[in-house]
Parts: sequence; C-alpha cells; structure tokens
Amino acid sequence: MSRAQRNFLDHLHSVSVSRHALRPTTTWGLGIACLSCLAILFITGFTLFLYYVPDQEVAYERILHIQTTLHFGGLIRNLHFLAANALVILAVLHLSRVFFTGSYKGRILNWQYGLLLLALILYANFTGYLLPWDQISYWAIKVGASLAGYFPLIGPEIKTFLLGGEQIGSETLLRSFALHAGLIPLLLFLTGLHLWRVRKDGGLAAPEGLKEAKLPADPWLFRAEAAVALLTLSVMLLLSCYFDAPIYERADPFHPPNPAKAPWYFIGFQELVSYSALIGGVVIPVVCGLFLVLCPWLDRSKSCGGIWFSRDRLKWSLTFGIMLLAQLLLIAIGLWCRGKNWQWINPF
Ligand code: HEM
Repeated sequence: MSRAQRNFLDHLHSVSVSRHALRPTTTWGLGIACLSCLAILFITGFTLFLYYVPDQEVAYERILHIQTTLHFGGLIRNLHFLAANALVILAVLHLSRVFFTGSYKGRILNWQYGLLLLALILYANFTGYLLPWDQISYWAIKVGASLAGYFPLIGPEIKTFLLGGEQIGSETLLRSFALHAGLIPLLLFLTGLHLWRVRKDGGLAAPEGLKEAKLPADPWLFRAEAAVALLTLSVMLLLSCYFDAPIYERADPFHPPNPAKAPWYFIGFQELVSYSALIGGVVIPVVCGLFLVLCPWLDRSKSCGGIWFSRDRLKWSLTFGIMLLAQLLLIAIGLWCRGKNWQWINPF
C-alpha cells in the first residue's frame, strides 16, 4: 500500500486497537458485517442497474430475464436480495449491541448518524421492493405507503412523495428507481462519516479504568475485520445458492391479494394499525422513535459505555429489550398468523 493510500486510511481507520475491542464478545463484528453487506449491495446493485428498466411495461420481464436467462443473473439478484434483508437485521442487531452496552455514551453524534443510516437502509429497501413490479411488491408498497400516511401532520405528504402522486403507477416506479440509485452516494457518505466518527471518539467505548496496552491495528484489527467480512460474504454466497429471490406473477392493480401485506420490516406497524390507527399508527411509532433519538440524553446512569447489561442501566436495557421483543412478536404475527381479511390463522 502506498504512503498516500495509508494516510487516507488512517483518517478513517484506527491505527491502534485495545485488546477489549478485539474480543469477539465486544461487538460480535456486527458493524463490519453491516459494512460487508453494503459492499455486496453496491457491487451486485451496479450489475443489476445495467439490465433493469424502470418502466411498468417491461420492468417485470427484465427481472425475469435477469433471474432466469442471464449468466449468473440469478446468483447476483439472490445476493442483492439477501444482503439487503440481512443488512436490516444486522443493523438492528448492531444498534441493539450499542444500546445494551450503553456505547452511545460519549458518542451521541455517532448514535444519531447510526439512526439516520438505519432510516436510509429501510428507505433503500422500501424503494427497491417495488422494482420487480410483481403482485407482492406492488401491493406491499401500496400498503407501506398507506402506513406512512398515518404519520402525524405530514403523513399525507409523505405518502404522495413515496408514490409520486395519489396512486401507485409508472411515476412511483420511476421515482423508486431514481431514489434507490440516488441514495447510494448519501449512504456512502454517511457510512464514511460514521466510521470516521468511531475513530474521532477514540475507538470503541470501553469500561472505565481499563488499562490494557494497545496493539497496532495492522495486523490485529485488519485480520479480525477481514475474517468477519469473509464470513459474511461466505454466508451470503452460500444462502444465495439455495434461496432464490422471490418473483411472483406480474403486478395486477385490479386484483389485490387477500391479505395484502407490507414488507416484513414494516409489517409490525401494519399489525399495530389493525388494532388502532391512532395508537398503532401514530402514538407508538412516534414514542419509540423519540425514545431512540433521545435515549443518550435521558440515560443519566453513572456507568460508562462498553459493558453489556450494566447493573445501573438495567431499566434502560429492560425497556429497550421489551420494545425489541414486542416488535419481533408483531412481525411474527403479521407474517404467519394473519390470513384473509387480516383474520387470525393457525400458522402450523
Ligand atoms: C450501514 C449501517 C452501519 C454500519 C456499516 C456501521 C458500522 C459500524 C462499525 C464498523 C463500527 C465499529 C465497530 C463495531 O461496532 O462493529 C460502528 C460503531 C458504532 N455504531 Fe455503527 N454502523 C451502522 C449502523 C449503526 C446504527 C443503526 C447505529 C445506532 C443507531 C450505530 C451506532 C454506532 C455507534 C454509537 C458506534 C460506536 C460504538 C462504540 O463505541 O462501542 N451504527 N458502526
């Protein structure tokens, strides 16, 4: 590596690392796994862009062509689909790791960058969902946009922005494609900012009074990061060989499936809205969002970050744990326990 390249890397990446940060149980490598998924998404996404056309007359056929006749097209699409879904799960796990170790302490700005990154990842997933223009994606986006309509004050405007008008149609597809691609520079920039901030904050949060000699990042940290990246890539590749990214029949605006379900990461909100539009669609999401944004200021516990489930943060860990479990339960109910007309069904 040249001197100039090394100097640039040194701004983004730590030059030394504590033994604490290298222990697998400190981070479980979740941040690097997120980064690896992002890399997979950029590379596979670029290839998909070469063949995809955002026109409702041909989009569906283009996806079928990529999936079935293009050399390695199926594998690339599978990888893109799996990495996109894995990124949502890994980012939430990474956020949970940061929360349960209280590592937002002294890292308030980076916590907020992280939340922005999560919102962007969800939005990139949402815009990508519509691109195959099949029955499930068409109706999922319709339901998803209606859910956004419940947002206080500006809900209807958000819905119109997402759909590019009042109804889902060619404008929605074009807009989804443009925004899906347009998010890439923003995601890159924010990820760079997030990593630079980790370095600026003095590396990972660590228990107070920890007196361990630092090790050089090269080779210790680089090796650990390469191992996580290789593991993530291997798992994604293996899964892509066995699981095909779904493609159903072409979108039919006149025949909604019953039930029409939102994408899995928003189905918990759909389940909540089915109980009460006001409580489920407005109050609970806003309270949870505010809780995440404000927790670094509200948490006045004495312990420093970097300790899993520290005693004096027990009430915070419990509150976040309950929120997380509730969201998982709602997603599971929405996915497997709801049938025609949103009636309960036995999933077994
Ligand atoms: C694309 C998504 C993301 C990527 C690529 C990413 C990457 C990383 C990496 C590589 C680290 C350093 C080591 C590690 O924890 O593995 C890190 C730390 C951190 N991340 Fe993320 N992150 C992402 C999303 C998030 C989210 C959603 C949050 C929370 C809202 C967040 C908050 C933080 C904080 C506060 C730290 C510093 C933790 C500490 O000092 O222990 N990140 N991130």
